Amino acid sequence: MKVFTSKLLGFLVFFFFYHCQAFPHYKFVVKEVPYTRLCNTKNILTVNGQFPGPALYVNKGDTIVVDVYNRGKYNITIHWHGVLQPRYPWSDGPEYITQCAIQPGAKFRQKIIFTTEEGTLWWHAHSTWLRATVHGALIIYPKMGTSYPFPKPDAEIPIILGDWWKEDIMELYQILERDGDAIQHNSEAFLINGQPGDLYPCSKPETFRLKVNRGLTYLLRIVNSILVDSLFFSVANHTVTVVGSDGSYLKPFKRSFIFIPAGQTVDVLLEANQSPNHYYMAASVYSTGGIGVFNNSTTTAIIEYNGNYTPSSRPVLPYLPSHSDTAAGLNFTASLRSLADKEHPVDVPMEINTHFLYKKIFCADGKTRTLASVNNISFLNPSIDILQAYYCCIQGVYGTNFPDFPLFVFDFTTEVYPMDWEIPNVGTEVKMLDYNSTVELVFQGTNLLKGSDHPMHLHGYLFYVVGLGMGNFDKDKDPLMYNLLDPPLQNTIHIPKKGWVAIRFKAKNPGVWYMHCHFDKHMVWGMDTVFIVKDGESPEAKMLPPPPDMPPC
Ligand SMILES: *[C@@H]1O[C@H](CO)[C@@H](O)[C@H](O)[C@H]1NC(C)=O
Ligand SMILES: *[C@@H]1O[C@H](CO)[C@@H](O)[C@H](O)[C@H]1NC(C)=O
Ligand SMILES: *[C@@H]1O[C@H](CO)[C@@H](O)[C@H](O)[C@H]1NC(C)=O
Ligand SMILES: *[C@@H]1O[C@H](CO)[C@@H](O)[C@H](O)[C@H]1NC(C)=O
Ligand SMILES: *[C@@H]1O[C@H](CO)[C@@H](O)[C@H](O)[C@H]1NC(C)=O
Ligand SMILES: *[C@@H]1O[C@H](CO)[C@@H](O)[C@H](O)[C@H]1NC(C)=O
Ligand SMILES: *[C@@H]1O[C@H](CO)[C@@H](O)[C@H](O)[C@H]1NC(C)=O
Repeated sequence: MKVFTSKLLGFLVFFFFYHCQAFPHYKFVVKEVPYTRLCNTKNILTVNGQFPGPALYVNKGDTIVVDVYNRGKYNITIHWHGVLQPRYPWSDGPEYITQCAIQPGAKFRQKIIFTTEEGTLWWHAHSTWLRATVHGALIIYPKMGTSYPFPKPDAEIPIILGDWWKEDIMELYQILERDGDAIQHNSEAFLINGQPGDLYPCSKPETFRLKVNRGLTYLLRIVNSILVDSLFFSVANHTVTVVGSDGSYLKPFKRSFIFIPAGQTVDVLLEANQSPNHYYMAASVYSTGGIGVFNNSTTTAIIEYNGNYTPSSRPVLPYLPSHSDTAAGLNFTASLRSLADKEHPVDVPMEINTHFLYKKIFCADGKTRTLASVNNISFLNPSIDILQAYYCCIQGVYGTNFPDFPLFVFDFTTEVYPMDWEIPNVGTEVKMLDYNSTVELVFQGTNLLKGSDHPMHLHGYLFYVVGLGMGNFDKDKDPLMYNLLDPPLQNTIHIPKKGWVAIRFKAKNPGVWYMHCHFDKHMVWGMDTVFIVKDGESPEAKMLPPPPDMPPC
């Protein structure tokens, strides 16, 4: 009873605080609107009728409030991808993890707390497959009175890489959930700012065009919002300077193309320094295959120099690596380095007290449906959200036995293995972490079910990517090569098929935080788990109480 009273008191104080502070307010109305692409018209779910959805502009350290009204016909939740939401998982958004759905007709007020993030992040639906059309950019400018760690660009352009599905996305999702067989379905086109570009049939007039002035510099804030594909992206006849990723700045480096896994963001500077003409920017898939095919088509947009000239009859296409060029992708990821200067110090945990090896495997249960797993557990969504169960001490919703290491160790890259290895256990198991633990987690990509690469995303945290390589992780040799000086700070990292990536973070954000593959197909199949980071001793190390209007289960 005493616990309840003090919680209630905290709740009332918080209620007062929550409603009386004047944070900037935004209104997201989720509703269906007809859109036409490739000569076909269909209803898609949007925020405020826009596709891609509205970009939100904030300064570093701001807090904003977004009122989400569900005027669509499906349950939905909204996630603020890459925003740490310190001590406040209540607004994080993943369905069944931190909240139950906002049901049709209902409303939920979400508070988004920006702290150290600066650069580009994004928001998207986090239930079923609705993020296919429900997503948009989060643009985080430097704090008032501070500036970019590079010369101020003359203009800033969000570039949202997306995809267009011929089928109704919820029908596809239902097939996928029922029997996993949506693998033979691919999106019909990839999109740049909502448009497929003129290499697709029936798409030319609406191609996205960026008009530039020669001599000026443009900051392209690139987001990969595609459901199940990572991409190469390039601008013909221009090299770009990579300056940031996932809401953190990087040591600048020049490239003729970039690699952007599903869920990540990459910020690049484009100098309009070529002869006045029309140039394509283009993107196509990187895929290691695995089960299912991918669409090998190329999406384009056009960069048009202003001025008096006659453009070439057709813009030049940029060079993009081949669809299976693993070395090109790995090289790009390995080139990311934090600024590591006085204004942007790195704080890599040096003494690790909590080690994990997470083997991500693809598993098929041929008899019923396709499953994917981490450490041989395929995550099953609970019936009420884990955050509520944890906070209100509701038993029986989840277990705390997520294994730290694979129980069965084998050559994870092997081509030959018995069929029964592909059948995982199914359950809702989480990993409990003490406040302030220093965590090293090694993701090991396997070759089960022909393998695949996996962009892994962690909520509530940014992590340092301290090492990566191909083959089986070697716990004696590989750590000697770690970059502990200027590793990049990410929220999403690409794990190569039959390769590994090591990340480190300090568990100082109490709450319930989802970790999952950002290929939504794999997420639905269970390639996910949850970290529950316990409260620390001091009041500043404890989770905040919930808002008054959490959607009921
Ligand atoms: C790729 O996209 C094109 C153009 O929309 C479409 O015709 C084709 O069927 C798609 N390919 C696959 C393998 O899905
Ligand atoms: C772009 O580069 C290609 C070769 O890389 C070259 O042939 C072409 O002339 C260039 N186009 C322009 C407009 O500079
Ligand atoms: C794309 O895939 C189709 C089969 O789906 C194939 O016929 C075509 O040659 C491929 N195109 C390229 C450029 O690889
Ligand atoms: C990436 O490739 C470039 C050009 O081939 C090379 O100079 C560089 O060392 C490579 N970087 C990494 C991190 O592998
Ligand atoms: C996963 O667990 C199941 C059931 O215990 C077992 O049959 C299977 O071989 C395991 N697979 C791996 C790769 O550990
Ligand atoms: C967290 O851990 C660091 C050492 O990594 C220690 O100095 C600090 O006192 C700890 N803070 C709390 C609140 O436990
Ligand atoms: C919508 O969400 C509510 C609350 O969690 C749940 O009871 C209901 O089953 C959900 N409906 C569907 C179709 O998933």
